[in-house]
Amino acid sequence: MNERDNKLLDLYKEDMIQEAVVTTDKKLKVGIIGCGWIADGHLQEYLRMEDVEVVAVADLVPGKAEAFIAKDNLEGIRCYLNHKDMIDNEELDAVSICTYNTQHAGPAIYALEHGVNVMLEKPFTVTLEEAVAVVRAEKKSGKILTVGFQPRMSENMKMIKRIIDSGELGDIYYLQAGGGRRQGIPTPFGTSFIEKETAGIGAVGDIGSYSIDMLMNAVGYPKPLTVSGYTSNFFGTDPEYYAKKNHPEYAEKFGVDDFAAAFVRLEGGIILDFRISWAMHMDTSGDALILGTKGGLRIPSTNCWNGDFDKPLKVYRNVAGEPMCYEVPMLKNKEGIFHQKIRSFIDEVKKGPGKGKATIPTSEILYNQAIIDGIVKSAELGREIEIQIPEI
Ligand SMILES: NC(=O)c1ccc[n+]([C@@H]2O[C@H](COP(=O)([O-])OP(=O)(O)OC[C@H]3O[C@@H](n4cnc5c(N)ncnc54)[C@H](O)[C@@H]3O)[C@@H](O)[C@H]2O)c1
Repeated sequence: MNERDNKLLDLYKEDMIQEAVVTTDKKLKVGIIGCGWIADGHLQEYLRMEDVEVVAVADLVPGKAEAFIAKDNLEGIRCYLNHKDMIDNEELDAVSICTYNTQHAGPAIYALEHGVNVMLEKPFTVTLEEAVAVVRAEKKSGKILTVGFQPRMSENMKMIKRIIDSGELGDIYYLQAGGGRRQGIPTPFGTSFIEKETAGIGAVGDIGSYSIDMLMNAVGYPKPLTVSGYTSNFFGTDPEYYAKKNHPEYAEKFGVDDFAAAFVRLEGGIILDFRISWAMHMDTSGDALILGTKGGLRIPSTNCWNGDFDKPLKVYRNVAGEPMCYEVPMLKNKEGIFHQKIRSFIDEVKKGPGKGKATIPTSEILYNQAIIDGIVKSAELGREIEIQIPEI
């Protein structure tokens, strides 16, 4: 490692030694809304926490909530058929909202209006209008709403932001998203990710939201101004795509995008050149790039939704007038990133009203949603549009 690497690493370690203070005098009462795939991740994390008690779970599908807790032989957890009944009948401190995308805003607003803190799975919502309504409810409630982007907890992801914040790259003017999947339309447990009614948006919201968060968070979430977006669905609507899965009928159900690209202008003269894919005839749309006036950063083509890379970040700078490139040492996470996402939410809720803060705040993710919404709307219109975010 060279001197600059060591300096960056030392700065970074200062952050890592600050442990959260957890008091265990009172158990927080938590409910889980939606008992599908990701809900189990939330449940398992809560079960590990001595200061949390999962008191209730809810799912629209009759019997699903009961089966969800029965698989772990859990007793005494009450089951409901929807979020409203659960919130009305329980005295909850917090909920995890693990519903499909089109059921993010409604339960989030209902929980906030009833004084319940919210851990909301990503993407924030489907539309910008929904996101604005959630933020208004959050502001009025004084409660915490955090959005579930666990890659933010990754030490290597944090390093991206540290590098930008260090000023080593100068003024940032260009962000290029990379990655994407070749054959990765998510249908692990059915069609909730691909039907318009449940998902609302496809790759652009599912993994695109992570990619946008990685880059936008790195540069401090500048306000998006205009967008020229493109979406397509050539793979999702093709029965051939699902031949190996023996589900050709999924093609009929596919109602969202499986590829999206966009050119987004951000406040401060920064450009976001975006692309994401659930399916394409290409292994990757490339590395993610951040260009600044003094240096550049290459983020290896990555499953950014998993929160890590398999190759090191590379910094490009001129040294003694010569173009140089050096690798940033890879860092290990001290704990699982999913655990940290849930734990940090609980730690903040425990600080109490006015003191706790969302780890991944809506003030930032509102812009993430505005970009996604802008891509969808611009693609529908076939032209560039202005992004207009209502006053909150
Ligand atoms: N952070 C991550 O790593 C990660 C991973 C996977 C999924 N997700 C996100 O989590 C969300 C859920 O994904 P999933 O794969 O678990 O979906 P899923 O379809 O498996 O489960 C969603 C469940 O929510 C239930 N539901 C919907 N509306 C409800 C309501 N109002 N009240 C009660 N139950 C309701 C459905 O019946 C369904 O059982 C999605 O938005 C997805 O993007 C995040």
